[in-house]
Amino acid sequence: MGAYRISGDILIYFSLNKPYLINTKSHEEFEINDSELISEIGRFSISGEVKDSVKEVLLENGILVPKDRDEPLSKFGNDFLDLFHKGSNDVLNELNTLSPTEYALTYLESCTLIEGHKPPERKKQNPINGCESIPLPDYDLFFLKNCSLFSALDKRKTVREFSPFKSNMQDLSNLLFTAFGYFHQHKEGEFEEYKPFKRRSSPSGGCLQSIEAFVCVFNVSGLKNGIYWYDAEHHSLLTVHDEISYDDLSAMLASQFFGENCSFGIFLAANLERFTWKYKTTRAYRVVSMEVGHFSQTAQLCAAALQLNTWITGAFNDSKIEQILKIDQEQSIPLFFLAFGNGRYRRMHSLMEQQAQRFKSKD
Ligand SMILES: Cc1cc2nc3c(=O)[nH]c(=O)nc-3n(C[C@H](O)[C@H](O)[C@H](O)COP(=O)(O)O)c2cc1C
Repeated sequence: MGAYRISGDILIYFSLNKPYLINTKSHEEFEINDSELISEIGRFSISGEVKDSVKEVLLENGILVPKDRDEPLSKFGNDFLDLFHKGSNDVLNELNTLSPTEYALTYLESCTLIEGHKPPERKKQNPINGCESIPLPDYDLFFLKNCSLFSALDKRKTVREFSPFKSNMQDLSNLLFTAFGYFHQHKEGEFEEYKPFKRRSSPSGGCLQSIEAFVCVFNVSGLKNGIYWYDAEHHSLLTVHDEISYDDLSAMLASQFFGENCSFGIFLAANLERFTWKYKTTRAYRVVSMEVGHFSQTAQLCAAALQLNTWITGAFNDSKIEQILKIDQEQSIPLFFLAFGNGRYRRMHSLMEQQAQRFKSKD
């Protein structure tokens, strides 16, 4: 193969029948519009030979690298994950060498660039015609003021076994407002100060508020079973799906049945149309994932203050959920699910305990 090899940073993929090449390290992407290039890469990978004219192009673009160049250690022990990781690494390198003044100027420049442009609105077309939006009762923050951080942290624990429990609209309203509503609205005057970006009780990448909450109602007095989008602007719910069973839920959650008997659940999805309006680098995947974690933790602590137990999961059937939440035709992705209700802490679900006992008795 001579002195060169194909770089491990390279990914070739096809979209609409066209070949593209990504250099995950330099974050460059090219459409390969010269069929000779792709056949020469293939030929080199098998025989180590390549035309001189093509070799130059491959060297220039970091596709061929010296054979003895060190390959970075595999971080994940999985080629695909390593490429994914590299793709979001060192994206901000060029900023590292700026002085504080230079950085301040660059920051201001980027602010000027987006000045006057607004991110896409946090609005949802009514997905079910004829369904009016459902106002939630006014929030009441007494439950939160009355609960110490200590007791919320102390109570928050993952439960995987809920018992039937009817929650109520007031608790749901309080939870949605404190975890996903425009929380600072409760302080007079404060809300105005943040315009045009509204803030919530959890931090948000670029203050874009890309995380949306979809509530799955199973057992809440005054509210029909179904799935609703939480409209933070109006503190109301919009019907997205007019029925959902626990069996549907576990089918959505990769067969995890731990949400059975929860009073309600919440899918958290990221609106990428809003997010990528400002953040277009591959770093976006990290940021929305971290953002959803912040919202999840806040919601769990608020739930603890409301004497509700929680179970969380990120393991689910994405495409199915996108369809059910009616976000499959939008630039939105589901990232997390939280179940709320009356549960008990156990090392294992009782069904698993029974099965474990059976195993034991067979031995
Ligand atoms: C990002 C993330 C993903 C999780 N995914 C699952 C999951 O798919 N299924 C599950 O039963 N628990 C899941 N959990 C819950 C953890 O198993 C749980 O937090 C952990 O066992 C610690 O218990 P604790 O929450 O009571 O402190 C997840 C937790 C996090 C933070």
